[in-house]
Amino acid sequence: MTVDAHDKSAGRIAGMFDAIAPRYDLLNHVLSAGIDRRWRARAIASLQLTGRETLLDVCAGTADVALQAMAARTVVGIDFAAAMLAVGLRKVRAAGQTRRVALVRGDATGLPVGTAAVDAVTVAFGIRNVQRPELACVEMARVLRPGGRLAILEFGVPRLPGLRTLYLWYFRYLLPWIGRAVSGDRVAYSYLPASVGGFPPPEQFMAILERAGFASVGAVPLTFGIVYLYTGVRA
Ligand SMILES: C[S@@+](CC[C@H](N)C(=O)[O-])C[C@H]1O[C@@H](n2cnc3c(N)ncnc32)[C@H](O)[C@@H]1O
Repeated sequence: MTVDAHDKSAGRIAGMFDAIAPRYDLLNHVLSAGIDRRWRARAIASLQLTGRETLLDVCAGTADVALQAMAARTVVGIDFAAAMLAVGLRKVRAAGQTRRVALVRGDATGLPVGTAAVDAVTVAFGIRNVQRPELACVEMARVLRPGGRLAILEFGVPRLPGLRTLYLWYFRYLLPWIGRAVSGDRVAYSYLPASVGGFPPPEQFMAILERAGFASVGAVPLTFGIVYLYTGVRA
């Protein structure tokens, strides 16, 4: 089956995540061998939270960042896939975090949040799915107060030659096969490698962040560059 990684219309992407929502967490942990939790912890640590902050988590999915970012006073998670948020809400309730974490349905390219209203922003494995990532970055700059920190996690492709080949094989063939077998969804886990291949390389994405209004922009490869942590400060 061919997968059109360019069609990122809200209906298609939200529908795809709604379809895999019940199995999303399990697959995430299996396909990353549990390292995804550590990647999120790195992103959260880079925000240098002190316990007084309001954190906005864009593309919140099943609320993993919200539930890991215990150092934030409040967290607002935004996502347009209702079924992902429903799984997230169950987890927030089970963790007794309903007073600290709010989940809201909304689009990253038109955030339902006031200007300079939050102290920190995160996006974990969401930005490559957004139809207009430049616009989402401008929106994130708008809602962050000056001096507020941004942390974005996104998949990359390792640059080390042997590892690159091995990883691309895993990513293109084995991962979609496992994803399909566990989720029963024929499209979503073929879309994953296609969408990662279509995402701008680190230098290009850093330039997008700078143009959106972020200073001190950085990109740190995690786990040999399988994932990149992008950071920035609202200028
Ligand atoms: C791969 S999941 C990541 C979920 C979560 N952040 C995590 O770390 O597991 C990507 C999420 O981004 C959401 N998403 C993609 N594009 C979006 C957009 N334009 N606005 C809001 N949510 C979006 C999807 O619905 C999905 O829940």
